[in-house]
Amino acid sequence: MVVIDRGKCIGCGLCAADCPAEKLTVTDGKAVYTPGCIQCGHCVAVCPRAAVSIPEYDMADVEEYDRETFTVDPENFLHAVKFRRSIRNYREEAISREVLERILEAGRYTATAKNRQACRFIVLQEELPAFREYLWSQMPELAEEMKKTAPHYSMMFKFMYRRQRKDPKDDPLFFNAPACIFIAADNPLDGGLAAANIENMAVAEGAGVLYSGYIQRITEGWKPLKEWLGTGDTPVACCMLIGYPAVAYKRTAPRKKADIIWR
Ligand SMILES: Cc1cc2nc3c(=O)[nH]c(=O)nc-3n(C[C@H](O)[C@H](O)[C@H](O)COP(=O)(O)O)c2cc1C
Repeated sequence: MVVIDRGKCIGCGLCAADCPAEKLTVTDGKAVYTPGCIQCGHCVAVCPRAAVSIPEYDMADVEEYDRETFTVDPENFLHAVKFRRSIRNYREEAISREVLERILEAGRYTATAKNRQACRFIVLQEELPAFREYLWSQMPELAEEMKKTAPHYSMMFKFMYRRQRKDPKDDPLFFNAPACIFIAADNPLDGGLAAANIENMAVAEGAGVLYSGYIQRITEGWKPLKEWLGTGDTPVACCMLIGYPAVAYKRTAPRKKADIIWR
């Protein structure tokens, strides 16, 4: 439901012009809404008089756009993208709840297909040691099970298991990260985009992440772990370890040339 404050509406038509569902028109000098949109909130964001609201959302969350203060400099942005690194060496320091909440806010504000906003974020910090131990305890059984479907992974996980059991500090899956964020999403791109925003925000907060394809694969493929996480039938799209880096990079890592077709 989109609500127009007719007292504030000046009938400029900007909301109607920007509505992807074409559910807004201007009639007799006022915006009029026909139900059935995806509640993308563009009408709220574009209105010059703040005359539009969507009661299903917490409208107190809506912030005014301050073009003067918050500019994103393209050079700085690309610099940040290039200097982001996967972190496999973390300081023994927890991330405060306040910082984690700010980091997750970047995930919350990500684009989602049909504006479903259906990602679920599972943050493990206090319970990460318990989850980690549970995953490792399940490893022999799940690696054995994988023998038929993914023999290469099965062998590798068995090797990792022996290594971790010999020295629990030598953990080739969790890298002693203090926290871990799982993203469950029906649409894998929704989960991936949220993860990228979360990673960028983590870096801005002085932290760093490692996408763990291994943990994601193990968790998604092993029912007891999925049950532990509480993601129900929703696929685990992503697992990211997160913490403060104990490593400082001095320069960018080299990359292949981009594969681009210009037409
Ligand atoms: C989807 C995805 C899954 C990954 N899974 C793992 C993993 O399981 N273990 C690991 O050590 N690194 C993993 N990585 C990190 C990549 O190896 C890393 O991004 C790549 O080597 C480039 O390094 P950079 O991220 O520092 O630029 C993963 C990265 C992505 C994007």
